Amino acid sequence: MKFSVTPKTETARDSAKLESMRNEIRHVHVKKMHSRELGLLLARQLLDVEDLHYGLWDADLELRLSNLATAQQRYNDMLIAQLPRPEREVRVLDVGCGTGQLLRQLLDRGYSADGVIPSKDLGDAVRRKLADRSGHRSRIFECGFEDFPVEQCRRHYDVALFSESFQYISPSASLPILQAILKPGALLLISDFFKSDAPESMKRTPFVLLKDEDITRRVSPNMELVNDLLMNRIKPATLTIGRYIEGRHPLLVRLALALLRKKLDKVNHKYFSGHRSREVFERFKTYHLLLYRLP
Ligand SMILES: C[S@@+](CC[C@H](N)C(=O)[O-])C[C@H]1O[C@@H](n2cnc3c(N)ncnc32)[C@H](O)[C@@H]1O
Repeated sequence: MKFSVTPKTETARDSAKLESMRNEIRHVHVKKMHSRELGLLLARQLLDVEDLHYGLWDADLELRLSNLATAQQRYNDMLIAQLPRPEREVRVLDVGCGTGQLLRQLLDRGYSADGVIPSKDLGDAVRRKLADRSGHRSRIFECGFEDFPVEQCRRHYDVALFSESFQYISPSASLPILQAILKPGALLLISDFFKSDAPESMKRTPFVLLKDEDITRRVSPNMELVNDLLMNRIKPATLTIGRYIEGRHPLLVRLALALLRKKLDKVNHKYFSGHRSREVFERFKTYHLLLYRLP
């Protein structure tokens, strides 16, 4: 039997509704979720947090999951403390703004803040978070920063900030865009982890380094929490579900395992081998708070 979604008596409103439904269906089919985005969304759902960064774990804060939101708020406060006070209008662009948690706090503290977010789900979360706000109407650019509409925002921002998002974008794409959209004298704030010290690519730009603080040890305790969650919660839960499905559909499971063996081994090694510790993080990564000025 053929099924058509087009009714014979379409009013203009119905057809607009249908068109939007069709667009949504197309969107669902076309837009594949990136594994990084999956990780961020799962982290948000499992941990019930609004920030998607590691947080600041100073000695006075006991390392337990229930303190994660406090550690993350301390990190947000540290970032905001780097910005000029909003005594006059300060336009901030939060690149890779996650769920919009920092964006919302910037607005609440008087900044004119906009956000860039390439993920549809996170974009929706940002819009929900800002829905009840009056005052500055934030622009949410739902695109990768590589595709930022430079011409609309030339020399527009006083600050661009990257909170654990700089690493996702190639500097050869992000740095020329930043130079175009920041005003002369504007600030660039990057807080992220790197394989070596501060990114070499910055040295080949006009940006002048004002501050470089190594905060690796204040951030790395988070690794213990992540590891504990992966090894002691997510792994056993996944194995239980696997055993349940295998009991009911043994052939299907064997086939799926055979087909996905390589991928599963990779995931297993990356997330479930128990090697995520603060020592490993400190040995292979450095986490820096970097502040630059564009002359
Ligand atoms: C680790 S999360 C950090 C989120 C948020 N800044 C925070 O601190 O909670 C990384 C963010 O970078 C964003 N991102 C990834 N690739 C990007 C790109 N090409 N352009 C802009 N943002 C990107 C992700 O969507 C995500 O929101």
